[in-house]
Amino acid sequence: MDAVTCTAPVNIAVIKYWGKRDEALILPINSSLSATLSQEQLCAKTTVAVSGQFTRDRMWLNGKEESLENPRYQNVLREIRRRARKRKIAGEGKGTSLSDALSWHVHICSVNNFPTAAGLASSAAGFSCLVYSLAKLFRIEGDISEIARQGSGSACRSLYGGFVSWNMGEKDDGTDSVAEQLVTENHWPELQILILVVSDQKKHIGSSAGMGVSVKTSELLRYRAEHIVPRRMKEIETAIQNKDFQTFAKITMQDSNQLHASCLDTYPPIIYLNDTSKQIMHLVHKYNDFCGEIKVAYTFDAGPNACLYLLEEDVAGVLAMVNHCFPPIEQNGDQYIRGLQVEELPIQKDLKESLGFTPLSPGALKYIIHTKVGAGPQVLPST
Ligand code: DP6
Repeated sequence: MDAVTCTAPVNIAVIKYWGKRDEALILPINSSLSATLSQEQLCAKTTVAVSGQFTRDRMWLNGKEESLENPRYQNVLREIRRRARKRKIAGEGKGTSLSDALSWHVHICSVNNFPTAAGLASSAAGFSCLVYSLAKLFRIEGDISEIARQGSGSACRSLYGGFVSWNMGEKDDGTDSVAEQLVTENHWPELQILILVVSDQKKHIGSSAGMGVSVKTSELLRYRAEHIVPRRMKEIETAIQNKDFQTFAKITMQDSNQLHASCLDTYPPIIYLNDTSKQIMHLVHKYNDFCGEIKVAYTFDAGPNACLYLLEEDVAGVLAMVNHCFPPIEQNGDQYIRGLQVEELPIQKDLKESLGFTPLSPGALKYIIHTKVGAGPQVLPST
């Protein structure tokens, strides 16, 4: 038996992927760009084992056995084995256990340290971890983002640290629809992320089904993909390279808003944001107005949880404001803010007045995760 254990990160897009031009190969209608989050707070961990004793391929997710019949898993496993076989035929790995391993079955065991399907990009971390682990096990070299993409589109971006773009590509076979690192995790260390978890419930319509209906019915989505995203990709790449927070933050908010506008333009409409999400958006704009420049940017995926991008020097001020507006009920030790210890969060008196905000009902915000941009997947030492 041969086994490998790896971890892989979550990523949060600032230019959103929404819509496929090929559903089977998972080819997008537009390019997208994301930040990879530190694995200290959020990650998937997967062990893959291959053995002549196993009678079939099997998988356990968070301790429960799941079927591998889903075509996404089948595509990933087939593609991994095809690539490994190609290596063998090319002469490499001859005489090693690779030839045996190729005729054996795999067992996959994966856990997330965060709620699945809560809009926290769990499928991205999960599929990128699966593909990375299998690639290590079968000693596959070269770009594997094309394989991860076939598990879940956004998963291809979780294979690298820092900021990562997924170029939509043009070819029908998808060989040019791959992820690419723009800058490493050390490029912009001042940039921090706060995830405001509004709900850890499963979303009412998953992103794959949602984007399928949007592609069929939203003219706004088509216009966005053709005319707006190409321009925004260039602008945000330059902003990230120059660490220009003002431009980065504005485009991030605009692109999130356009994703949700396209969802509302879908027929029947799709609504992922709830009242708390909208209050967070409103609050961010009020806070930025009060400060006279953009201090914090929000972005929302296919769910109500907010992801805030901000600079380190503004974390305490923003947390004080959030704490004032959303009193936590589950504040107990570090349960309230994971990844950060905050003793006291004083809010400026004039900001409180300017917000004109009545604190919301306790529990509107479940908890906050404080994190930063992090590295790509890691192989864990075998024990
Ligand atoms: C809103 O990657 O989950 O998070 O390719 O069908 O698996 P599939 O979809 P998925 O969609 C993610 C959509 C998004 C935006 C983004 O991450 O770019």
